[in-house]
Amino acid sequence: MSNWLITGGAGFIGGNFVNRLADKTSGKILVLDSLSYAGDLQSIDPLIRSGRVEFCHGSICDETLVAKLFADNDLTRVVHFAAESHVDRSIHQAKPFIDTNINGTYNLLEQARRKWTEATGNLFIHVSTDEVFGDLGPNDAPFTETTPYAPSSPYSASKAASDHLVRAWHRTYGLPTVITNCSNNFGPRQFPEKLVPLVICNALSGKPLPVYGDGSQIRDWLHVDDHCDAIRLVSEKGRAGETYLIGGKNEQKNIDVVRTICKAVDQFKNLASGTTEKLITYVKDRPGHDVRYAINPEKICSELGWQPTQKWDDSIASLVRWYAQNEGWRESILSGEYRQFYAKHYGTLAI
Ligand code: NAD
Ligand code: TYD
Repeated sequence: MSNWLITGGAGFIGGNFVNRLADKTSGKILVLDSLSYAGDLQSIDPLIRSGRVEFCHGSICDETLVAKLFADNDLTRVVHFAAESHVDRSIHQAKPFIDTNINGTYNLLEQARRKWTEATGNLFIHVSTDEVFGDLGPNDAPFTETTPYAPSSPYSASKAASDHLVRAWHRTYGLPTVITNCSNNFGPRQFPEKLVPLVICNALSGKPLPVYGDGSQIRDWLHVDDHCDAIRLVSEKGRAGETYLIGGKNEQKNIDVVRTICKAVDQFKNLASGTTEKLITYVKDRPGHDVRYAINPEKICSELGWQPTQKWDDSIASLVRWYAQNEGWRESILSGEYRQFYAKHYGTLAI
C-alpha cells in the first residue's frame, strides 16, 4: 500500500488527480499546496472534510516544512504537480517560476533523498510539460523521449531546469524518479487564464475571445482525466530513471479550438449557428510564441498500456456545460486578482 504526497493537489490537474486517486487506493493521501491564485480548495474540499485527504497549506520551497512532512509520514509516492504554470504570466514576471519550479523542485528532491536512502519501491513522479522541447515545424515528427530540450519561455525554461534536476538526482544519488512530459490539458476546474477555459468563460458571457496572432499555432490537446490515468499507471508500473511522454494524438490549430468552443456554446445556448464566432478578436501575438507541439506517446502506450480515451468534440461540449452549470465557481475565480492580470495582459479587451 502506498502513502502519497501530492504537491499542487489544489490545482487543476492535481485536484482532478486527487479525486480520481481517492477511491482507487486505501493509502494515505497528503496534499501540499500553497494556494496561490491558481489553487482552489473547493476541488478537494469534500475529501478533506471526510478525512480521506489530509491537507497541508504551505510551499514546496519551505525546507523545514517539507522535511517534517517526510519525517512524519511514511511516504512512498510523491506526485509533484506544484508549479507556476502559465506562460503569459512567466513573460510578465519570471521570478515566481524560478522560485517554485526550480528551487521548490530542488527542495522536494533533496528532502526525498535524505529520507529515502534505504527505501525500495518508492517513486518520485515529476509532472512536466512538452513545452521543454521547444516547438516543431509543420512537417516535423512529434516529440519523443529523446527529443533535445530547447525551451522558449521563462515557464518552459523553468520546467526544463526542474526536469534536469530530477534526472541528476536519479543518476547521481539513485533517487527513484520518473518524469512525465504531457501536452496541453483541458477539463473541469481549469483556471480561466489558459486558452480553453478562458474562451469558454468569455463565450458564455458574450465577451471578446482573444486569439493571439493569426491563430495558426498548434497544440496537442488531452483531457485531464486521461492525463491523470497516465500518471497513475506510471506510479504503478513506471520504471525509475525513465521519462514518459503523454499526449492526446489530437493536434488542433488555436483558431479551430476556439471555433469548436463557439459551436458548442451556440448549441448549448440555442443560438443561431455562427453567433459566438462573431466574438473572436485577433490580438497581438505572444512574444516567443511556440508554433507547434505534438507528442508521440508510443512508449507509454506500448510499455504501460495507456491510451487516450476522450473524444475531442464531445468533451468540449460537456466542458461547456460544466462551466455553464458552475457559474458560482466561475464567479469566485473571476475575482480581484484575475481581473488585475486580465487588464494588464489584454489591455482594452474588457471583461
Ligand atoms: P495550476 O496552475 O492549475 O496548479 C498549480 C498548483 O500548484 C496550484 O494549486 C498552486 O496553488 C500550487 N502551487 C504553486 N506554487 C506552489 C508552491 N510554491 N508550493 C506549493 N504549491 C504551489 O497548474 P496545472 O495546470 O494543474 O499543472 C500542474 C502541473 O502539470 C504543473 O507542474 C505543470 O507544469 C504540469 N503540466 C500542465 C499542463 C497543462 O496543460 N495544464 C500540461 C502538462 C504539464
Ligand atoms: P495556453 O492555454 O496558455 O497554453 P500554452 O501556451 O502553455 O500552450 O495557450 C494555448 C495556445 O493558445 C497558445 O498557442 C497561446 C494561445 N492563446 C490565445 O490565442 N489566446 C489566449 O487568450 C490565450 C490564453 C492563449
